[in-house]
Amino acid sequence: MDKILVIDFGGQYSQLIARRIRNQNVYAEIQNFDQVSVEETVEAGYKGIVFSGGPRSVYDDDAPRVDEKITQLDIPILGICYGHQLLVYLEHGEIDTALSESEYGKTLVSVSGSGLFKDISEESICWMSHTDQVKKLPPGFVSIARSEKCPYAGIADEKRKLYGVQFHPEVSHTEYGYQIIRNFLFEICNCRPDWKMDDFLDKAIERYKKELKDKKVILGLSGGVDSMVCAVLLDRAIGKDLICVMVDHGLFRKGEADEIEEVFKSRFDIRLERVNAKKRFLHSLEGITDPEAKRKIIGTEFIRAFEAEAAKLQDVNILAQGTIYPDVIESGKGSSAKIKSHHNVGGLPDEVVFAQIIEPLRDLFKDEVRELGKRLGLPDHLVYRQPFPGPGLGVRIIGEVNEEKLSTLKEADAIFTEEIRKAGLDRIASQYFAVLTDSRSVGVKGDFRTYGYTVALRAVSTDDFMTAEWVKIPYEVLQETSRRITNEVKGVGRVVYDITSKPPATIEWE
Ligand code: XMP
Repeated sequence: MDKILVIDFGGQYSQLIARRIRNQNVYAEIQNFDQVSVEETVEAGYKGIVFSGGPRSVYDDDAPRVDEKITQLDIPILGICYGHQLLVYLEHGEIDTALSESEYGKTLVSVSGSGLFKDISEESICWMSHTDQVKKLPPGFVSIARSEKCPYAGIADEKRKLYGVQFHPEVSHTEYGYQIIRNFLFEICNCRPDWKMDDFLDKAIERYKKELKDKKVILGLSGGVDSMVCAVLLDRAIGKDLICVMVDHGLFRKGEADEIEEVFKSRFDIRLERVNAKKRFLHSLEGITDPEAKRKIIGTEFIRAFEAEAAKLQDVNILAQGTIYPDVIESGKGSSAKIKSHHNVGGLPDEVVFAQIIEPLRDLFKDEVRELGKRLGLPDHLVYRQPFPGPGLGVRIIGEVNEEKLSTLKEADAIFTEEIRKAGLDRIASQYFAVLTDSRSVGVKGDFRTYGYTVALRAVSTDDFMTAEWVKIPYEVLQETSRRITNEVKGVGRVVYDITSKPPATIEWE
């Protein structure tokens, strides 16, 4: 299979670059700049390399860089933004870091005939976001694109197949971005479009049939799409040797645990054990208010509950998890700083008693997991279900989690869900939910003073969950939701709507 290496220099779009490449049916891997070894890169046989963007300046002392031998490997390279400047730096050109003005946003760029720009207009809109820019080209390079302020918006050493663009072809604001990426893959790297979900599926089933022959595997069903797809995939490979366990920690949304059980037992012939661990979770969370501590506890309890279940079952020592690629990267294994420890990965306790952990989906992005789910025959309403975090409502209750708060949040969340769906907004919002804040405020009901909790509503639209916009919910929907929550849910005195995008906020509150 042909593959492309995306080297991540800390840019916010590195994952997007890899997804854009995979959307063209070419496999792309992301490596953090400091994990890249020239020897391994050669050995892996990449057909091309992309240098991502990044927030630094190439001359900074601690600027992320790679071994300069990488440009000598006879592998085509496309540098994007910081990656473009780094390519110039590695090839001994010069960067101007003293510009007084940044070039930001939609910018008119004109291009000249290069394979990289095949089938695109001479002038088009590109997305720029930079302060530094190339001042002097390295030997052998020519300019292939320019904007009003940037004479080297695109550069190439066509003979050595080294290319750089100052703008971002991976973002949708760049009119011909898709075509530029296609050109790099198919005109320059001569990739074959052989990354296909059917192949992935066949290979994964074959692989696990062999690797897991006569072994029993336990899988935690969280209710999210990832673990469900993982379950159905493994069911195809090992059938009755797969035992799905749903740890009912009490942190599911209203009615969710029953629904999952129902669907799995009635639609699929997959063995499912439901463990009632609510008391145990609540007990461990008593008095804990720090978000990371809560996540760790929930992650640990999860594993312990599995272990206890596995111990009851004979010969089960393999744990399967529905970890996906962004989980791996966000847990600090990629270049971006650790944001939260997702309990699928970073939140695992140091010692796990299972002999082996398998993560069949760890190379896939969410949209690929969904495609796989559809191919596996999961119904659309499960495949397109909004994501639900592993730690569940535990990260949607600010401060200490207890039974009373859980039931308050479940009711408020169910009302919000109902109102969003009634208004047809579930097609616009990628994720919507209620959060129970730890803020209480004074109110009045009838003649009585009340002192209730504040419920925050959150609805975001996103296609990759790395960045997200808050949804402009019509006032009437917010009004009805607020009216119902304050009337129907005991202990809630106020409802607010979260109008923060990601970044700077994350989607979940904790
Ligand atoms: P944040 O809050 O980081 O969330 O912007 C991005 C997406 O990830 C989900 N999320 C999690 N999923 N385990 C998961 O499986 C977790 O610990 C976790 N934390 C956040 C979140 O719901 C959103 O879709």
